[in-house]
Amino acid sequence: MSKSIQFPADFLWGSATSAYQIEGSPLADGAGPSIWQRFCAVPGNVRDGDNGDIACDHYNRYKEDVALMVKLGLKAYRFSVSWSRILPQGRGAVNQAGLDFYSRLIDELLANGIEPLLTLYHWDLPAALDDRGGWLNPDVADWFTDYARILFRAFDGRVKSWATLNEPWVVTDGGYMHGTLAPGHRGVHEAALASHNLMRAHGSAVKAYREEGKHRIGIVVNIEPKYPASQSQADLDATRRADAYMNRQYLDPIFLGAYPPELKEMFGDAWPDWPAADFELIGQKLDFVGINYYTRSVVRDEPSNWPLKVAPVRQTQATYTETGWEVFPQGLTDTLVNFKRLYGDTPLYVMENGSAFYDPPQAEGGRVHDPLRVDCLRKNMGAISAALEAGVDLRGYMVWSLLDNLEWSLGFSKRFGIIHVNFETQQRTLKDSALLYADIVASNGACLNQAAGKA
Ligand code: BGC
Repeated sequence: MSKSIQFPADFLWGSATSAYQIEGSPLADGAGPSIWQRFCAVPGNVRDGDNGDIACDHYNRYKEDVALMVKLGLKAYRFSVSWSRILPQGRGAVNQAGLDFYSRLIDELLANGIEPLLTLYHWDLPAALDDRGGWLNPDVADWFTDYARILFRAFDGRVKSWATLNEPWVVTDGGYMHGTLAPGHRGVHEAALASHNLMRAHGSAVKAYREEGKHRIGIVVNIEPKYPASQSQADLDATRRADAYMNRQYLDPIFLGAYPPELKEMFGDAWPDWPAADFELIGQKLDFVGINYYTRSVVRDEPSNWPLKVAPVRQTQATYTETGWEVFPQGLTDTLVNFKRLYGDTPLYVMENGSAFYDPPQAEGGRVHDPLRVDCLRKNMGAISAALEAGVDLRGYMVWSLLDNLEWSLGFSKRFGIIHVNFETQQRTLKDSALLYADIVASNGACLNQAAGKA
């Protein structure tokens, strides 16, 4: 890191979590089951048979967790609301006790000077809606909008930053294309339909927000920049396809009014000509876009891998995290700069960025040394600083994650937290990465300029 780092004075520093990954007590106080509860109940779906029944017990310990955020000096907290706590059947009768939980959380954050950033959907669809086809049923756009309106009316006085969906690509690729995530379906036709309905639901909720809300609303997408393994035409084309599928599929329709043509090229009859009116809905103007960045992918042409016909190429000189993702901070800079180049100057937030490395299940002596995560955090700070220098309108950064938590189908086997959780005792311990992050927040990044060489 040669250049001196200086973040804007009002840069928003925070951390992120999601409901099912941390809350526990999924059926408490009248809540209904979600697709994740069902998915976890099927042996073989989640590593070691783990589930979110207890997770970090945040439902009961949210005050303790907010106190930890205060200790770290965080200015913002990104969390998601569990739809089936609010509407146990996904629609219809509202469960006041569910609203009350998030109301208490929001009050606790505000009382401590922490800005709540609320995500409406982080993958936990009410199971009752899945029984009606879930994201495959075109009515889901209305169901989602009705749910969103309930939250806008309840919380817009206190919550000033809203996100519709977290990572629609993961919802469709994991949930409907490959079946590795809830609801565990496998099929290109379903993936295409779910994807389009997610975007319709997003657009419809944004439209409703303009009637109900007074503040800011956006979407959160995961971007994994694609780099060609060689300059051959076949690899360059493969890179374009991979980028269209994973990245541009969700941003092009919002900002450019159409899906990337590569989707039709790859999916054939599974990718119909969607009604033109849908694009008007999907293209609602946004106040910000949240970017989640974890890694990049180097790709090559691989005709046998239908339908994308691409294959990843492992980098022999690189470090990989415990989830098998290459550590590549430059990809974060590239992602932010590319966004500006392709879609213009919408305010951006990094809404998730972090890394899973091995930490012991118990924290000995009140310390957790996590040098690899510390190193990644430092490098990622350099990466966002470089994006700011390149003129990207980046307003804030949320580290993933506040706490070790349920890493979806990998269960509790992968730890992403800057705060260690002992899942036997629920004891929280700050890792070295949390201490570094607290310094970064307190000094607005200046500590990084003196710290080269420090742990
Ligand atoms: C998701 C998180 C997840 C993280 C690490 C993101 O895709 O939004 O819920 O835990 O990545 O895999």
